[in-house]
Amino acid sequence: MDLSLRSISSLFPKSLFSKEVKSVLGVDIGTSSIKIVQLRRERGKVILETYGAIALGPYAGVEIGRATSLPAEKIAEALKDVIREANVTTTDAAISIPYSSSLVSIIKLPASVEKQLAQVVPIEARKYIPVPINEVLLDWFVVGGGKGNAAQDGKIEVLLVAIHNDTIAKFRAIGSDATLATAFFEIEVFSAVRASLDHGIAPVAVVDMGAATTKFYVVERGLIHESHIINHGAQDLTLAASRSLAITVAQAEERKRKFGLKEPSAAPQLVSSAPGQGGDLKKSLELSLTPLLAEISRTVSAYEQRANQTLGALVLTGGGATLKGLKEFAQQKIQTELRLADPFGKTQAPAFLEKILKEAGPEFSVAVGLALRRLQELG
Ligand SMILES: Nc1ncnc2c1ncn2[C@@H]1O[C@H](COP(=O)(O)OP(=O)(O)OP(=O)(O)O)[C@@H](O)[C@H]1O
Ligand SMILES: [Mg+2]
Repeated sequence: MDLSLRSISSLFPKSLFSKEVKSVLGVDIGTSSIKIVQLRRERGKVILETYGAIALGPYAGVEIGRATSLPAEKIAEALKDVIREANVTTTDAAISIPYSSSLVSIIKLPASVEKQLAQVVPIEARKYIPVPINEVLLDWFVVGGGKGNAAQDGKIEVLLVAIHNDTIAKFRAIGSDATLATAFFEIEVFSAVRASLDHGIAPVAVVDMGAATTKFYVVERGLIHESHIINHGAQDLTLAASRSLAITVAQAEERKRKFGLKEPSAAPQLVSSAPGQGGDLKKSLELSLTPLLAEISRTVSAYEQRANQTLGALVLTGGGATLKGLKEFAQQKIQTELRLADPFGKTQAPAFLEKILKEAGPEFSVAVGLALRRLQELG
């Protein structure tokens, strides 16, 4: 008898052979760069197959590391380039939608309407959404008081999410231009949280340090409870360093990435107080981090007072969180325990890559989170 693959497979537990191995691609289109991560599931393990990032600055005529605002065609061009450079082998993809293009807010509704949310939420949403309701895609999740556990005031809390149809159309076009079959679009908040957190009960915050802004999400029992945008980002550090050290923005970005806060102090100078001397990158970076860290602290305190509970930790993510020495410096300014996101820790990769993947990890949280959800969907 011809021993075909089919008959061999019948000798093994079904789960090993019943599903074809499929690779999936998470695509995070940020303002300063595109990040991609390709994963595959094999025998219950998640394997990291490839990953890559490409700066959008050069496609917009600005420096690497800076935020851009590009039309769909230019973004698709960059996406195709990074897909090629990273040797991506799948077209099965999931793409993130920027938090800034979405509206995420918590609304309170009487517990009695919990079974009719599909009718009630679109009506209620009109109060929160500044454009006609038929121009947005609406989604919602009960985050507090559901299933008969309403608060004392008899209310449930519903997380409302809205994305403008034009935004979806833009990202759909980018995906198809890059010949991807996009399985879903997801607001980056959810992807970042999936990749950055383990299952914990205590409320924590995920702090995504992007190029122009920093996003702050409070997560409790796996659900997003609050989100804020802080108008300071990693590019501010570069711009300030370029000014204070009198070097170009490109040079400042390069030195920031190379040394971060771990730059060895400048060699002793004969006339140490001479103006323009010193080259103290570290001092400049610390100076521009200070208002950002103060704003993060204020956001933490405001939440803790309002919710009457303390945050267990802040999980730092985004390219800005990969600044060398950031965690140690920031911990001196922020009382809550800080951790760096380690999204690749949820994947299997060759051991020799471990250190690099830990260091670069925070930048890839959103892309990893997208790919993880796609793998879950495929089962
Ligand atoms: N090794 C590094 N050290 C310090 N900063 C870095 C490093 N790598 C990247 N960055 C900074 O991270 C920023 C980009 O982070 P990220 O890729 O998360 O942003 P983005 O996703 O494009 O932005 P956003 O999420 O706001 O749209 C850049 O401003 C860059 O200067
Ligand atoms: Mg980002």
